[in-house]
Amino acid sequence: MIDVEVRELMQPFLLSDYQVQEVYSRFCNEIGKGLKRSTHAQANTKCFPTYVHELPTGNEMGKYLALDLGGTNFRVLLVTLKGHHDDTVQSQIYAVPKDLMIGPGVELFDHIAECLAKFVDKHEMRNAHLPLGFTFSFPCVQMGLKEAMLTRWTKGFDCPGVEGEDVGRMLHEAIQRRGDADIAVVAILNDTTGTLMSCAHRNPECRVGVIVGTGCNACYLEDVQNVELLEHQFRRGHQQVIVNIEWGAFGESGQLDFVRTEYDKEVDRKSINCSEQLFEKMTSGMYLGELVRLVLLRAIERNIIFKLSPKRKEYVETLQHKVHIYETKHISEVESDSFPEFLNTRRIIKQLFGLEKATVEDCQKFKYICECVSRRAATLVAIGISGLINRINDRKVVVGIDGSVYRYHPKFDAYIRETMHKLVKSDKQFDIMLSEDGSGRGAALVAAVASKTK
Ligand code: GLC
Repeated sequence: MIDVEVRELMQPFLLSDYQVQEVYSRFCNEIGKGLKRSTHAQANTKCFPTYVHELPTGNEMGKYLALDLGGTNFRVLLVTLKGHHDDTVQSQIYAVPKDLMIGPGVELFDHIAECLAKFVDKHEMRNAHLPLGFTFSFPCVQMGLKEAMLTRWTKGFDCPGVEGEDVGRMLHEAIQRRGDADIAVVAILNDTTGTLMSCAHRNPECRVGVIVGTGCNACYLEDVQNVELLEHQFRRGHQQVIVNIEWGAFGESGQLDFVRTEYDKEVDRKSINCSEQLFEKMTSGMYLGELVRLVLLRAIERNIIFKLSPKRKEYVETLQHKVHIYETKHISEVESDSFPEFLNTRRIIKQLFGLEKATVEDCQKFKYICECVSRRAATLVAIGISGLINRINDRKVVVGIDGSVYRYHPKFDAYIRETMHKLVKSDKQFDIMLSEDGSGRGAALVAAVASKTK
């Protein structure tokens, strides 16, 4: 049993049925605003049309290059699509050093072009003229499939000189500046679009793509008649288009204030994009560990956890000064633990505080804190997914999901389904599938579908 003090501490993280319903209807309302021309400017969820009108048929073939920028790493990939046979993917991961994440944009794109050139060289493809799909996982207004203007940086990136610019053009210019590779950018896409495409390739009932990783976002297939931002020439001949919600920004007009806690506010205050991406700050890997760190700090200060330890003052100092010391992957590890061993939890407590023998009660409390933070994140994600499923006309909807939080957390999927069962209309069926490399294979599929449509 978890004692009453910890329960009280975590109470603000437990969303009541009323709160869930209220967030749900505010979210649905916001999607409506994002899609309509007259209300788009005030909407937080921008619902950007992606210019991807077709899901894959499964017949897609050919070799494609893909770039994936938007999480902790940057990747270059060579994807060979083989129709109904398994694709092959060769890839290389490159770190994105902190100074590049906040340094001049031109330098970021030069770095990308350099990695790309090295990769092409290594695979002896200098003269191959391969089409390239660029997964650029930040909010962009698209003017076409290969023109995407960054509206704002998210997830800790803040490179001057890119917001308001076409990132397709910036990449093209960086490739030209080097002059040692002949590569054509044929599509720019969001990681959610890649996820939807790669899942739809395996399961034609897939209509929604979700990422719960460093950031959190979703896209879905909408009827073109509802996407007022899409110019007429891009509607003709098409019934549907993938819409990138950018739901991470939900809450920026105060819609989540009635559920945000003091810890959410502090995470926001200390971030480099204060008052932006508020839904993302309650749901994604970049912030969940920080939320736990702040709650833990409060729990120690109030003498709710580690009551018997003489070194509690030191623990407080550690947590106060070492921002990001508690990572989101630790939440997954703690929640994988079982009573009474708590092997991961004990190891992590030892790593953090040097405390050799945490008591079973302390481990239980620690785990409960993590559970409340991740369960709330999953509930919010499920609210968003349910809102999308209920908009879609099909009776059965499959949702493709990717991202480190969803992939590695032992119960995130179960938490999501629990809330979805409450919110998805009773005449609908849904299922969730894990995406396999949406940002890589998805980029190749968008490039393939784009060349076919042409
Ligand atoms: C952030 C980005 C969004 C992306 C998501 C997941 O929310 O703004 O474009 O899809 O992270 O990576």
